[in-house]
Amino acid sequence: MTTTQRAVLIRAYGGAAAAAVAEIAKPAAGPGQVLVRVRAAGVNGIDWKVREGFVREAFPLQLPAVLGIELAGVVEALGPGASRFRVGDRVMGPLGGLGAYADFVAVDEAKLVRTPQGLDDVHAAGVPVAAVAAWHSLHHAGPIAAGQRILIHGAAGGLGGYAVQYAKRAGAEVFATASAAHVEYVRSLGADHVIDYQTVRFESVAQGIDLVLDYVGGEVLDRSWQVLAKNGAIVGTSSPDILARTPAGRRGLWFMTKPDAPLLERLAAEIAHGTLISKLGEVVGFDDIPAAIERNRTDPRIGKVVADFSR
Ligand SMILES: NC(=O)c1ccc[n+]([C@@H]2O[C@H](COP(=O)([O-])OP(=O)(O)OC[C@H]3O[C@@H](n4cnc5c(N)ncnc54)[C@H](OP(=O)(O)O)[C@@H]3O)[C@@H](O)[C@H]2O)c1
Repeated sequence: MTTTQRAVLIRAYGGAAAAAVAEIAKPAAGPGQVLVRVRAAGVNGIDWKVREGFVREAFPLQLPAVLGIELAGVVEALGPGASRFRVGDRVMGPLGGLGAYADFVAVDEAKLVRTPQGLDDVHAAGVPVAAVAAWHSLHHAGPIAAGQRILIHGAAGGLGGYAVQYAKRAGAEVFATASAAHVEYVRSLGADHVIDYQTVRFESVAQGIDLVLDYVGGEVLDRSWQVLAKNGAIVGTSSPDILARTPAGRRGLWFMTKPDAPLLERLAAEIAHGTLISKLGEVVGFDDIPAAIERNRTDPRIGKVVADFSR
């Protein structure tokens, strides 16, 4: 049996060339862990931010480090005390850390769920982080009441697509920003007002907003305070300095996602049944992961980009 495996590694923080395919040692499952043979992994905005060293505090790393934060695959072996799964089970989940871009990954079994029938590995791999983060960020500032006005920035992205659907189901009036090419897609998810941010300033359309979900950050965050209703709040996933950028008397909250296996199980079942739309964007091969990470920075796509390890 071979003792090494493929992985996408960074040896030092840096630009596009800092992430590369390399051979590393195959891990073993520790106590409470399962060894997963990875079949697919989701590509996320956090990948290039980690690569560049922008999020060193949130993701302190021992370099070299394997990138990738979510996966789908098959249980290859059980570590001591692991009992939730059997060898051969199809599983999916977030790592709550890094390391998914490798052929084998040792994962705490509590983070994983069985991949439902009807959801293939490539689709499943792009679900765990975005679907769960969108759910918890939507509820982070408090319960959602029917009739609330919610503005979702980055609605065509991985988190945004789910958030539009969750907010609409909760009875909210949903405002959403997207580029012209993605306006129809976001409308099809149920958004009431889709604003093409390339030609229309969102603040000229969205006012009296109870909750802004800011999945873009930076200047978009800074312009969003003026659209809030009196007791409105902004929940941000992109600008970790949101507290420092919150004007006096306003409510701005930083959101950091965590694994939530029971919620993921429910959402994955909905996707398998077709009651929750999960948009797969581009599928790339293993060797293309470093380039796909860089494209997320320069040219974000509609829906999720997923690496299919069989390619
Ligand atoms: N804190 C956490 O726990 C956490 C968890 C997951 C993700 N994140 C972060 O949350 C953000 C969103 O993640 P994601 O996976 O959804 O990203 P994504 O799939 O790459 O989507 C980003 C979307 O932002 C849109 N966008 C770009 N500029 C915009 C603008 N000026 N106004 C409105 N929309 C704009 C793009 O839409 P168009 O294509 O239509 O231009 C793109 O679809 C990223 O910054 C990611 O790093 C944080």
